[in-house]
Amino acid sequence: MNNVAIIGAQWGDEGKGKVVDLYSANAKYIVRYQGGNNAGHTLVVNGKKTVLHLIPSGVLHPGRICLIANGVVFDPHVFFEEIESLQANNVLSAPAPEIIRVSERAHVILTYHRLLDKLREEFAAKGKIGTTVRGIGPAYEDKVARRGIQVVDLLHPDLLFKKLQTALEEKNVLLKHYFKCEPIEVGPLFEECLRLGQRLKPYVSDVRGILVDAMKQKSPILFEGAQGTLLDVDHGTYPYVTSSNTIAGGAATGTGIGLNRISQVIGISKAYTTRVGTGPFPTELEQTEPATAERIRQVGAEFGATTGRPRRVGWLDLVALKYAVQVNGLTGLAFMKADVLQDFEQIKVCTAYRLGTATIHEIPSCVEDLENVEPAYEVLPGWEAYDPTKVKNVSDLPNNLQQYMKRIESYLGIPIVLMSTGPGREETLMISNPFQTT
Ligand code: IMP
Repeated sequence: MNNVAIIGAQWGDEGKGKVVDLYSANAKYIVRYQGGNNAGHTLVVNGKKTVLHLIPSGVLHPGRICLIANGVVFDPHVFFEEIESLQANNVLSAPAPEIIRVSERAHVILTYHRLLDKLREEFAAKGKIGTTVRGIGPAYEDKVARRGIQVVDLLHPDLLFKKLQTALEEKNVLLKHYFKCEPIEVGPLFEECLRLGQRLKPYVSDVRGILVDAMKQKSPILFEGAQGTLLDVDHGTYPYVTSSNTIAGGAATGTGIGLNRISQVIGISKAYTTRVGTGPFPTELEQTEPATAERIRQVGAEFGATTGRPRRVGWLDLVALKYAVQVNGLTGLAFMKADVLQDFEQIKVCTAYRLGTATIHEIPSCVEDLENVEPAYEVLPGWEAYDPTKVKNVSDLPNNLQQYMKRIESYLGIPIVLMSTGPGREETLMISNPFQTT
């Protein structure tokens, strides 16, 4: 068995796109299993940038099969836009339906989900989540409330009509009487869904079945997580989270494979921390060291791939990262963007929190407590600028950077298995390959 999951170990935007693209060289199947087009995975190949929101980041590797599994909330419009853009850039190795498959069971994001996401954010005076406004939360709400539309429904007109009619009865009360806006008519929405269904038909599959066959044939599978551990709806900084299980367990429920089918779980972390949207962020630098925050944001190009929003920036938080090791069962860490911190005199790393008079080493469950913790920092010496193209081994890295990496490994109790020295595929040190460890 040689199946690997890639998980964001922070609040998302850790660089999963690049790592998935690299590891896809070893995999036959690449699977997205949660989230939707709230994700933005940026890939740079031969100096050319591709941003994917929905289609798995392995799609740029010839011969790979990319799967969108049942746990994803699926926006067909975004899906077709991405396919068209990949086709226009001539990067697909085969006709799209041969290499990209969508689960019958995935839930569909519809007009009213996008609209409700936007209206809820606009109406929330306080307690705004700062969502990506892509309809993700409302689509997951409908799934859990058992009134969602699944991809397979788009191919069954009678059932589809009934389900849309039922869904709209309730949605329209909300739209008309609470949000004071125009109701949605069932007819045009039904027609649109039918058209989308016909266009989608060549891609619709039993994705779980494909994975079962893949496992029988011992074909390596890469599970591509989206967002990050601290945005998990159960284990993140609730309520400032996304609406899916972003942790490794989500790969099992989001695809229908057994828990014992994943051999390695690799967490992705930057050398510092970022967050978009609102919610607690203990090591945030905006108030305490605004110049440092701005420098990291500019050098690290920390602006959202999905919404273009400037990301909030902070020092590395090892308390939060250790939590990610635990809730995901991480077996290794991919360490990203240390190059952004070069030439700093000092680097700080948070190793505990102070809450009132207590020193704690865990993330408190109560969001108010998390908002009130003060980070306790260890200060480490910075490292000089280095030329990433000359780095072939960890021992070629500046000494103080190596010490920083060792401190992280010793705190977390897991090894750094990959180190990214720049955005391109080639700017990477593959320290050990998780596909070759079993
Ligand atoms: P939603 O997923 O659009 O509902 O947004 C919920 C929260 O998750 C917001 O704070 C978003 O900024 C955050 N979020 C969603 N997707 C991503 C992502 O891919 N990277 C980073 N943050 C994300």
